[in-house]
Amino acid sequence: MIYFDNAASTAVHPEVVKEMLPYFDVQYGNPSSIHQFGRKTKNAIEKARKQVAALIGAEPDEITFTSGGTESNNTIFYGIKFQGAKLEGSQIITSSIEHDAVLKPIREFEKNGCQVTYLPVDEHGIVNSDDITNSITPQTVMVSIMFANNEVGTIQPIKEISKICNKYQIPLHTDAVQAAGKVPINVKELGVDALSISSHKINGPKGVGALFIKKGFTVVPYLLGGGQENGMRSGTENVASIVGFGKACEIAKESLNKNISHFQVLHSSMLSKIVKEIPYVKLNGHTEKRIFNNIHLTFLGVNGEDLIIKLDEHGIAASTGSACSVHTQKASHVLKAMGFNHEQITGSLRISFGYMNTLDEVEQAVEVLKKVVAELRSVSPYKTKYSF
Ligand SMILES: Cc1ncc(COP(=O)(O)O)c(C=O)c1O
Repeated sequence: MIYFDNAASTAVHPEVVKEMLPYFDVQYGNPSSIHQFGRKTKNAIEKARKQVAALIGAEPDEITFTSGGTESNNTIFYGIKFQGAKLEGSQIITSSIEHDAVLKPIREFEKNGCQVTYLPVDEHGIVNSDDITNSITPQTVMVSIMFANNEVGTIQPIKEISKICNKYQIPLHTDAVQAAGKVPINVKELGVDALSISSHKINGPKGVGALFIKKGFTVVPYLLGGGQENGMRSGTENVASIVGFGKACEIAKESLNKNISHFQVLHSSMLSKIVKEIPYVKLNGHTEKRIFNNIHLTFLGVNGEDLIIKLDEHGIAASTGSACSVHTQKASHVLKAMGFNHEQITGSLRISFGYMNTLDEVEQAVEVLKKVVAELRSVSPYKTKYSF
């Protein structure tokens, strides 16, 4: 099998597994307990907090552990809601290409009378920062713009956006789930107030993530109970997973430059081979302002889902885009926002690399792609349009 779906989830790094194991059957104390068992797990969590903070240039006490990217995003929005900001008449600014873990909580607010501005993107999937300036009103309570898009891999101008938000003193949140471990992130240099990350996208375990909340930025918790995570997120901590996430962040930081170069080599090799070997293909997203572990393509005249099934039959795991939108069976809102027509949307394929992928796998995959795209095009309703 060749696994090219690392934007959906990644293999847990062997060193991460090793680090986690004792926290299942040896160090199983509750971190809130005063005895040695409890103190050991509490210390392990604090070590992980430092490792996570180091990956994004934060202070450890600015990190709250959550159950993943979805919870981190929800926490920030509900935190604003319960802060007393009157929903009715207030305004949130976001982009039209956010992940559902941002769009869906925001839509709930919209139902309750909150004004939402969904900024458009250009054909590469990039927000124009002037649109932020032009959309800010005295009622704006938050701006939330994702760092890197999960479908097409485009990176947004977060630093530029944060300068605008700072000028108008509007809190800025960014969903950095796809960006972490793929580009350098420093929350201080970026100037963001809140940032979400997830463990399973960076070779850590699933079901754990973190929310960075800048010191001084008040977010009211929405999970209430025992007061864990400094009161920000009640519930007994998922110790083994937090430990694993910490280790995954440490590895991601140490290997960031190596991984970026590796992804660039795989990316350019695959792209040049595909362009040479397969006609009527288009690269989506920006060529430079992107995470390089992601290649998003449109094969004209091909149905992306049929392509995924054919690739799977040949032992290659890829995706049409967001794993989450599979549940809703809706055409990608990201590609729609980028101005794609129906044919371009249905013909899309996302390949996403991990640190373990090789050039040899790229070569094998292109051979298979060439074959299966030709097969699908031979029975395509668009056959005469393109004379495949
Ligand atoms: C951009 C983005 N945000 C949020 C999420 C949700 O993260 P999690 O799966 O950790 O809840 C994902 C997952 O695919 C994502 O790609």
